[in-house]
Amino acid sequence: MDRVSRRKLMKMVAVAGSGAALTTLVKTEQVNAEEIARMTTEEQAATVIPAARAFGGQHSPKPLPFDPTKLKGISEKLIKSHWENNYGGAVKALNTVEQRLAAMLGEKDLPPYIYGDVKREELVRTGSVVLHEYYFANLGGDGKASGKALDFIKQWFGSYEQWEAEFKKTANALGGGSGWTILSYNLHTGELHNYWAWDHMHNAPMGYPLLVLDMYEHAYHMDYGAAAAKYVDAFMQNVNWDEVNRRVEEMRLRK
Ligand SMILES: [Fe+2]
Repeated sequence: MDRVSRRKLMKMVAVAGSGAALTTLVKTEQVNAEEIARMTTEEQAATVIPAARAFGGQHSPKPLPFDPTKLKGISEKLIKSHWENNYGGAVKALNTVEQRLAAMLGEKDLPPYIYGDVKREELVRTGSVVLHEYYFANLGGDGKASGKALDFIKQWFGSYEQWEAEFKKTANALGGGSGWTILSYNLHTGELHNYWAWDHMHNAPMGYPLLVLDMYEHAYHMDYGAAAAKYVDAFMQNVNWDEVNRRVEEMRLRK
């Protein structure tokens, strides 16, 4: 008869970053594998799922991919604060959320709506981490559109100028509030659009982001106060079109 050693179970817990879900099982020296097989689905989830990578809580922040002293019209102080506090905070929160989910799976009497609250946080924090990483990665350039990205934009918007006017208008519509403006290729419809996103969870289904602009006030208030449009102008001067072109290539591979 196969037996699951306590050491192995503890290792599973360590991967999850939380031991709470296996509280019952790890109290014994050894757990019978047949006992696990006889468990209800919920009980198995409390033992097996928390060890899964989905609950690892091991995300770490990506370093800024450009020199923060070199941006035009966006200060080093603002960028560092944004990266450290808002993006860095989202990474830490996502790790905490994943670990809490793992632990909560082991709470037999936990109401689903309480679990749902933390699942919502998982979505919020994931959106924040992913969009911030796209945002920082598409900064640090000279703002001059080029290559296949420019060709693609012309195909769908007629001209760069027409696309930029709509992108900026979409961004300015979020001024004073929060959200993201995202030039996305829609993998389902096969169309290119500037999408409006009110928050980290508000993305077009199947939208593949090519250019991401953070319109939360924390992205500009330190430099521009409430003058969001000036920040949008500054952002356009710093777009890294090499990165946008890299995404266009990557997107073509995924189509
Ligand atoms: Fe942000």
